[in-house]
Amino acid sequence: MPDQRPRIVLCVGGSIAAYKACDLTSKLVQSGHTVDVVLTSSAEHFVKPLAFAALTHRPVFTGATWFDGASESTGAAAHLRVSERADLLVVAPCTANLIGKFAHGIADEIVSTTYLGATCPVLIAPAMHHRMWAAPRVQANVAVLKGDGAQFVGPESGYLAEGDEGPGRMSEPAGILEALGRLLEQE
Ligand SMILES: Cc1cc2nc3c(=O)[nH]c(=O)nc-3n(C[C@H](O)[C@H](O)[C@H](O)COP(=O)(O)O)c2cc1C
Repeated sequence: MPDQRPRIVLCVGGSIAAYKACDLTSKLVQSGHTVDVVLTSSAEHFVKPLAFAALTHRPVFTGATWFDGASESTGAAAHLRVSERADLLVVAPCTANLIGKFAHGIADEIVSTTYLGATCPVLIAPAMHHRMWAAPRVQANVAVLKGDGAQFVGPESGYLAEGDEGPGRMSEPAGILEALGRLLEQE
């Protein structure tokens, strides 16, 4: 019998908010989603692929596995295979760097390449310092992505890891789940 569970590709960027991606993954799995996780190399400084493999019971896609060529999450077309049957691509946390790359069609590592090859709806949960979020270049890139049809959840205003407050805090997993559920219902 084919797997009928909604398929989510969760891309994780290099932000301290990456720890929340573990909670999001666990909540997604517990609520009946199949989750494939793709990590940037920067994200791996904050969270380990093993955490996501343990939570999803599936291989995790990283820059290293991409260029390795010896397992399910590897090989030349891994970035295309992972999103092929996805119902939704979620980027949480999404860095300023990833927003810039997505807006300009740059595909220089596994997450940006996966984004470029995805044809399913996209949900972006930005996370960054409030001065970065307010930067005209970031806002211009966000406008480009919205024009392309990408949906955004957050960022929220609140405590930031740097110790000050403002808009830039990644939405909590519960808020991301809610936004994600709404998008899946629209399909
Ligand atoms: C401790 C630390 C926290 C960071 N947090 C963020 C963040 O929340 N948002 C962001 O856009 N960049 C953040 N950065 C910078 C990114 O990690 C950096 O731009 C990196 O190149 C992003 O790579 P990626 O987009 O491929 O994940 C942080 C860097 C460090 C060292």
